[in-house]
Amino acid sequence: MRHLLAYLLLCACASFGAQAGDAGVPHLRKQGHATELMVDGKPFLILGGELHNSSSSSLPYMEPIWDHMLALNFNTVLAPVSWELVEPQEGHLDFSLVDGLIQGARQHHLHLVFLWLASWKNGTSSYVPVWVKKDFHRFPRARLAHGETIEVLSTLAPANWQADAKAFAALMRHIRETDGAHTVLMMQVENEVGVRGDTRDRSEAANAAFDAGIPKELSAFLEKNKDTMIPEIQKHWQAAGAKTKGTWKSVFGSGAEADEIFMAWNYARYVDHVAAAGKSEYAIPMYVNACLGCAGGGPVARVMDMWLAGAPHIDILSPDIYGGDFQKSCEHFTRRGNPLFIPEMHSSEEATRDMFLAVGQYNAIGTSPFAVDSIKDPATSPLARSYAILQQVAPVILAQQGESRLTGFVLNKEHPSVTRELDGYELTISLDQIFHSHADTGYGLVAAVGADEFIGAGSGFRVTFKPKTPGPTLAGIAAVDEGTYRDGKWIPGRRLNGDEDDQGQTWRFSSDAPKIERCTVYRYQ
Ligand code: DGJ
Repeated sequence: MRHLLAYLLLCACASFGAQAGDAGVPHLRKQGHATELMVDGKPFLILGGELHNSSSSSLPYMEPIWDHMLALNFNTVLAPVSWELVEPQEGHLDFSLVDGLIQGARQHHLHLVFLWLASWKNGTSSYVPVWVKKDFHRFPRARLAHGETIEVLSTLAPANWQADAKAFAALMRHIRETDGAHTVLMMQVENEVGVRGDTRDRSEAANAAFDAGIPKELSAFLEKNKDTMIPEIQKHWQAAGAKTKGTWKSVFGSGAEADEIFMAWNYARYVDHVAAAGKSEYAIPMYVNACLGCAGGGPVARVMDMWLAGAPHIDILSPDIYGGDFQKSCEHFTRRGNPLFIPEMHSSEEATRDMFLAVGQYNAIGTSPFAVDSIKDPATSPLARSYAILQQVAPVILAQQGESRLTGFVLNKEHPSVTRELDGYELTISLDQIFHSHADTGYGLVAAVGADEFIGAGSGFRVTFKPKTPGPTLAGIAAVDEGTYRDGKWIPGRRLNGDEDDQGQTWRFSSDAPKIERCTVYRYQ
């Protein structure tokens, strides 16, 4: 009876809205040099995955997918919500799909991040409602060189952002009014924006803006950030004479890269209007995602200053990392205090190793491979395996992020070892290669959790310790245990010694499936 009452109370609270002053509403909080996502008053690590673009447009289609998400050990699903389905006719709002998605997630104890596919998705405007598509006088399009129009809304037309922002604000109001259980954690505003097919919008309004003086907000930013701007922007600005006023051309020069800076500012301003309208109804964290291989003004790292200056209501600039150097992307996107959240990446074995680097070394708020509803054999996939481990150590990660007591790494033949300092010890972390083990990849994270005590998770690496504080100069292994966390409580398994810790010389993680181990060390002379 007591359980039934508690359940009914939970259902009742969940269907009420978030209350004024509700401290449990998802928000970001600084911890040391990291930023963490707080949900219901506690830090939360997003172990998520993004659905195919069209999956969440049908609740019956979603029915079998929820269990698939659970088999992958997710705690969060990234699901598109489109303007075309929320406002099929102007002023007629339909939240039945949104309600069904929230209910489906809640029934499966999952959280959601909604992707607001509206003015732009991958640069085009295919998700705007048909009443917007048809009314090209009222909702002006961008133009390419030679005056060619494309099916892409122009950033320079206030009517466009006003219509988008109105629908988005209504959506956020609805979420506030119905999501007292905080199922929805964050919002992605638009998707991979940026002009395609030319370096900038060449509509009449865009040409006029380009020939006019840079906006006063940007002048103020340049003035204030003279010495701290990222080098990529600094380069163009300095080359043009480091001016804080003047036309775009006189401040940033001309050419494709200068056009990109102009477009980045204009996308940022537009998206900021939309985000601001949404936040005025319900201020949960909001982010934008970037196509890393694209130019055209999207929130890529080389124009991040334009986005930081132009879109103060956006909390995170997020990379969709499908290729290139994963670590470099993490480095670039954590400049200027930008928190790391990776809304799209692969779900391959290699990508799931990179997740340990992202959360351990770059304090990521979370990771989310794309197209997760078509992963075959979810329960035995590399993604499920990595998330099973990360889920257990999430409280350890969240307690240490931003405090110099946590590190993450990926090792391979080209980069076989790293040296990191944690809590008074220098740790040398190398590929696990001894007489019977020849790991050619290793990955994981290590956290200092108490005096001389470390928790590690991953596979294919070994750790040696060197004291860095006054006292005895050598460090030995006191004990290594493998184990699991159940409801945050450490349950030890085997004591690892002999071959398993290289006769007491190193803390080892064999290259089998990733696992969790606890190591204590002592000092001697
Ligand atoms: C990146 C986009 O953001 C996704 O929505 C999807 O279109 C993928 N590309 C396709 O690979």
